[in-house]
Amino acid sequence: MRRLFVAGNWKMNTLRESGVALATGLAKECHKSHPGVQVAVCPPFPFLLPVAAAIAGSGVELGAQNCSPEKPGAFTGEVASGMLLDVGCQWVILGHSERRALYGETDALVAQKTATALAAGLSVILCVGETLAERQANQTDAVLDRQMAGSLAGIDAAGLARIVIAYEPVWAIGTGLTATTEQAESAHSHLRKWLASRYNAGLADATRILYGGSVKAQNAKSLMEQPNVDGALVGGASLKLDDFLPIVRAAQELRPA
Ligand code: 13P
Repeated sequence: MRRLFVAGNWKMNTLRESGVALATGLAKECHKSHPGVQVAVCPPFPFLLPVAAAIAGSGVELGAQNCSPEKPGAFTGEVASGMLLDVGCQWVILGHSERRALYGETDALVAQKTATALAAGLSVILCVGETLAERQANQTDAVLDRQMAGSLAGIDAAGLARIVIAYEPVWAIGTGLTATTEQAESAHSHLRKWLASRYNAGLADATRILYGGSVKAQNAKSLMEQPNVDGALVGGASLKLDDFLPIVRAAQELRPA
């Protein structure tokens, strides 16, 4: 059975004090006593180090929200994946729809970043998802296929073994509209079939596919109960302990220690 994974994407939120308080509270509540559930937080770059200190020894893992496709060098304003590893990150979120839509990130760039991050030793949370217009035009599967093929171009089976996929329908992000359990399960099952045909059945079966888009305490359990939903990538509800902890608890109920 796949381990459930609950990751908080703080996006461009928190300050040092609030971020550290959130991480400290989470570390206190998430002990290693639930091996079937993995928990990670992804704060903004400036708070990676203090958050790393706050969660040290707790079993909560650390991720960043982006990285450069380049190795270290003259790239003003960029952050190299090796630097993220150096400050305690295990994870980096790549291909988030906000980066695709607001910063023009293409599948090719996401693939380049993925390869660089994997080579540096990071694991990747790779995001894909359709817009509302694409869903309404019955293009969801085709969009997912295109994003997966493009974002995983050149990534071999060993690379995929260090990647978690996050299905994040754009229309559900920050809108309060959550995909129904049927919509989520259908997209996840499609993604797993895609992985089986591009790689192999065993690897497709082992790969975690998270759902993201207005995940809350009220809908987390029913989403994660779906056979192909292996956790959640949580935005808004990851910013308050009282909102995030019930999501972690829902996962723990589904994978009792
Ligand atoms: P919300 O949970 O705020 O909808 O954000 C989801 C998301 O984009 C996580 O990466």
